Amino acid sequence: MVDIVFVTNDRKTVSVAENSNLLRVSLREQCGLPFKCGGGNCGTCKCHIDKGLENTDPVKKKERNILSDEDIENGYRLGCQTFILGDVEVSWEVKK
Ligand code: FES
Repeated sequence: MVDIVFVTNDRKTVSVAENSNLLRVSLREQCGLPFKCGGGNCGTCKCHIDKGLENTDPVKKKERNILSDEDIENGYRLGCQTFILGDVEVSWEVKK
């Protein structure tokens, strides 16, 4: 099992099976990561891996279509496209 800390949601922490999809975990456990399409097209689920970037799977082509090189270098991912391989902490921008 691996721990995911949803920093923007009062550091809500859930333990999940390795290789879980970040958005699916958020939906199942009501962790609040924003989303719309769920398919790597809208960018709504853009989030920042505050800790444990090395514990995420490789960045997908769909993510490169939406995120800038700078975003990727700085640890941003699309939650719907990201699988978690070890402990991570994730945050996101809260839209008003
Ligand atoms: S929810 Fe649309 S890109 Fe992830």
